[in-house]
Amino acid sequence: MSHFEPTESFARSLDAADQLAAFRGRFCFPKNPAGRGEALYFVGNSLGLMPKATREALTQELDDWANLAVEGHFHAKHPWLPYHEEVRAGLAGVVGASEREVVAMNSLTANLHLLMVSFYRPTRERYQIIIEDAAFPSDSYAVQSQAAFHARAVGFDASRAIVRLRPREGEHTLRTGDVLERIDREAGRTALLMLGGVNYLSGQKMDMGTITAFARERGVVVGWDLAHAAGNVELRLHDWGADFAAWCSYKYLNSGPGAVAGAFVHERHLGDATLPRFAGWWGNDPATRFKMGPEFVPVQSADAWQLSNPPVLALAPVRESLAIFTEATMARLRQKSERLTGYLEWLLQRTAPGVKVLTPREPADRGCQLSLVLPGDARAAHTRLGEQGVMADFREPNVVRVAPVPLYNSFQDVWRLAEVLGKVTG
Ligand SMILES: Cc1ncc(COP(=O)(O)O)c(C=O)c1O
Repeated sequence: MSHFEPTESFARSLDAADQLAAFRGRFCFPKNPAGRGEALYFVGNSLGLMPKATREALTQELDDWANLAVEGHFHAKHPWLPYHEEVRAGLAGVVGASEREVVAMNSLTANLHLLMVSFYRPTRERYQIIIEDAAFPSDSYAVQSQAAFHARAVGFDASRAIVRLRPREGEHTLRTGDVLERIDREAGRTALLMLGGVNYLSGQKMDMGTITAFARERGVVVGWDLAHAAGNVELRLHDWGADFAAWCSYKYLNSGPGAVAGAFVHERHLGDATLPRFAGWWGNDPATRFKMGPEFVPVQSADAWQLSNPPVLALAPVRESLAIFTEATMARLRQKSERLTGYLEWLLQRTAPGVKVLTPREPADRGCQLSLVLPGDARAAHTRLGEQGVMADFREPNVVRVAPVPLYNSFQDVWRLAEVLGKVTG
């Protein structure tokens, strides 16, 4: 247990000792919605802040377009033709993969679908998809529509295909033992397990290594939605042996609204010519791509799932952001994150004892986000937070989510948030 004190000067002393504190200065903070100065920003779990360097990176691409036009594919400062390759190392570092296993493309839900084309291979016997009951709606829609897409041809009932993992009565998060027990029970009928690495609503971090190994031993394919995990917690997708994963880049990866997402395919699948796949020319082996032949020859990397040529203007922010992660490192960020979120939790017990935290208490079972149930009318309390200059978000039915992000939130920010939460709930 860390030693904490409830004073602002103590919070400032934590900032003074923080080796990552200087990163804060590299981000643009929004204006305080309630008055002068900057907002207290705790919504990095929804949209990460803009790195100051992003503007220049975009301007560079616009200048190269203006000055070079089509020649920019070869002669831009960062040539456009292989532009997606520039983000590979950074992405691999963030999710714990080899460079061959990751690719930046599309959006998250689109990637989940493309990956399920390859990895959801239902049979009459094994057709179920296990998800968490509190899965993000887009994931629910994606798995339901995938099951419906196959049901008639394969011969199963799509309405029975989706298995939803629910917490125990009166609990808000899933117990790993219960998840494993259910996987064991359902394995004979299950084709795919697809869970969120960190749940968007509760902030619970799943034991991804244990769950992946357990399901795979029972012949279940495993995919992870890492929307709330990438850039938030340390990931080891390769070592855990996950079959596939996908994530967005607009939350903790600070790459802007609707940013280009990421995908992971485990190395053991990369040379598998039997996998069904929707193909496009940027998935073809670059050695033969411009021979313009009609036969698809997949490159032996996750790029094989890529359809189109890289969206350079959208990838420039991803490149800038990942450079920051490479410099800061996930290990150091996570170390600070555990302390930052722990400090918030500790302060809240003092300033706002009526606030209930849904997120697990153990740092190993959560990322940076705390999901709070505020006493009384949660929506009204959320509005009052805004009036006090705090940007947090509200999720139905009564959850206020706050995410202290170690790259740009300070201990003093967290101290101020705890004070405001005390005021609006007191
Ligand atoms: C867990 C999860 N899955 C899926 C999505 C949908 O993402 P997109 O709109 O990028 O497809 C989100 C968006 O916030 C999410 O949090």
